[in-house]
Amino acid sequence: MCGIVGYVGTSQAAPILLEGLSKLEYRGYDSAGLAVRDHEKDPVLVKAKGRLKVLSEKTDGGRSIPGFCGIGHTRWATHGEPSETNAHPHASDDFSVIGVHNGIIENYQELRDKLIRHGYTFYSQTDTEVAVKLVDYYYKKYKVGPIDALAKTMVRVRGSYALAVMFRDYPDEIYVARKDSPLIIGTAGDNQYVASDVPAILKYTRDVYYIDNLEMARLSGEGVTFFNLDGDVVDKPLSRIEWDASVAEKGGFEHFMMKEIHEQPEAVRNTIGSVVREEKNEKGETDYQIDLSQTGMEEDEIRELSQICVVACGSAYHVGVAAQYVTEDLTDLPVRVELASEFRYRRVMADPKELVIVISQSGETADSLAALRKAKDMGMPTLAIVNVVGSSIAREADHVFYTLAGPEIAVATTKAYSAQLIAVYLLAIWFGLVRGTVAHADANNMLAEMELLPDKIRRVLEDQERIQWFASKYSNAKDVFFIGRGLDYAICLEGSLKMKEISYIHSEAYAAGELKHGTISLIEKGTLVVCVATQDDLYEKTVSNMVEVGSRGGFLMGLTKYGKYAMEDIAEFVVYIPRTDPHFTASLAVIPLQLMGYYLSCAKGLDVDKPRNLAKSVTVE
Ligand code: G6P
Repeated sequence: MCGIVGYVGTSQAAPILLEGLSKLEYRGYDSAGLAVRDHEKDPVLVKAKGRLKVLSEKTDGGRSIPGFCGIGHTRWATHGEPSETNAHPHASDDFSVIGVHNGIIENYQELRDKLIRHGYTFYSQTDTEVAVKLVDYYYKKYKVGPIDALAKTMVRVRGSYALAVMFRDYPDEIYVARKDSPLIIGTAGDNQYVASDVPAILKYTRDVYYIDNLEMARLSGEGVTFFNLDGDVVDKPLSRIEWDASVAEKGGFEHFMMKEIHEQPEAVRNTIGSVVREEKNEKGETDYQIDLSQTGMEEDEIRELSQICVVACGSAYHVGVAAQYVTEDLTDLPVRVELASEFRYRRVMADPKELVIVISQSGETADSLAALRKAKDMGMPTLAIVNVVGSSIAREADHVFYTLAGPEIAVATTKAYSAQLIAVYLLAIWFGLVRGTVAHADANNMLAEMELLPDKIRRVLEDQERIQWFASKYSNAKDVFFIGRGLDYAICLEGSLKMKEISYIHSEAYAAGELKHGTISLIEKGTLVVCVATQDDLYEKTVSNMVEVGSRGGFLMGLTKYGKYAMEDIAEFVVYIPRTDPHFTASLAVIPLQLMGYYLSCAKGLDVDKPRNLAKSVTVE
């Protein structure tokens, strides 16, 4: 989704804006632009279609547009095709107001018509140009200053926005407004920064403010002032970003995705470590305790629950599918899993004892946020599993379980997915302990096993060259199918998504038992079918499905546990994962599938970290 960067301070703005935008490239974009202002002089506006490189070349790395105050933008097209005209910033004709925007203004057509009636001309097809010109309209009509003009605009527009605006009459100041789209403000003495995400400003400061919904701020050399919709000044606490700037660099890997695949043992270990405590009991044995008090959930509340609904999008939804199998196995709670985009619009039976768990890496996905709000409105308790601290979902949910995956840059999630899996295992064990469906000794064994996952993931990663070799043979595949049962089906969903999103190969995941109801007709000689069979109780069933596929010419890749060597008699290529508690196999089995997607994308020469049309964080509907 679109990325916003703004800077005002003592240094040249354009290079800082370009650098910041480059750190937001992961969000996905198709054009970019800058507006920079040298004190009282008129602002200079430069835009370019395509990669940031083009914008950088056009401005000589920012050197050709001097000035100490500016706003920049990477655009992911929603209203209007990718083009220089549609790229941001957009400005009123006399440059009174220049702005960039992330989000969607839903009533833009109606506002556009109104502004046309008031003599405004529109050059682009964007809703952003409407928002900027509406600010200009109120600014000139009421003549009461930028904050008031922004507040009037915010009352009038429907939808989501993060806006950064410069006013010609207020040099060296940037004004921002926010509703439902991510925006953070960084500060370092005389220098202020605004951005859609932390990596854009991490090089310059770790001190940030989180601007809330329906709030505005003024950034200037003197500092940052926040305002509510009434224009009253509001106080904001300063927060400190703890992660290291190097986490947003590739660290010797060719792509962020590969770096993040290799960071999974650490993401898993950190997430476990944040809630699992080890103690020695009187016999000298290790006793593991889960301490989820950080979520703020009380044990009484857990005992009271009647059911769980997991709501999420994309890979986080696939974690939800795994959570269903694990939680129903370890507790007496019925669990359903819903796509947030469906949940938000359908009639849901309100059950005040149903816990709604929203899973989201970014904590900003528009559909997941809307689903969370709906659940809250209906009086259902909510718990968010979120990676980005201070994100909207984390702030609005009743309870939060933070995954400690660290910042994830590649569009295709890997380490955040793995950390989310850990979070759902821990919740299931904890709920089971509290509700008496998991014995302490069993929980202890599971937690001891969970502690071994980071090393086991590392062992799976050691097999990467074989997977690379196999992937290189299949880079021309047209269709790939993934089949599995139970938890293996949940893994198939993720494996298939990893493959299609970055290698652009059509792939589908099917519950193996569903094959006969249609999919099997798509199997031709040589069609690659990836068969995941890590669950002992379902192994034979899945193997039967493999045989059916094989006898119709399918080319079989098996993914199973060490020891199940008979699979080599059926599949042409087999990948093994170490044995673990059956509830945790997804954590190991997903690794080869991530590697497959990665290597296929590389073999096809594609942009692994920034696949076409996709965005890291989908902050619009
Ligand atoms: C996008 C990303 C996916 C992610 C999904 C949900 O589609 O490309 O990797 O799983 O959004 O994002 P969230 O931030 O809510 O986990």
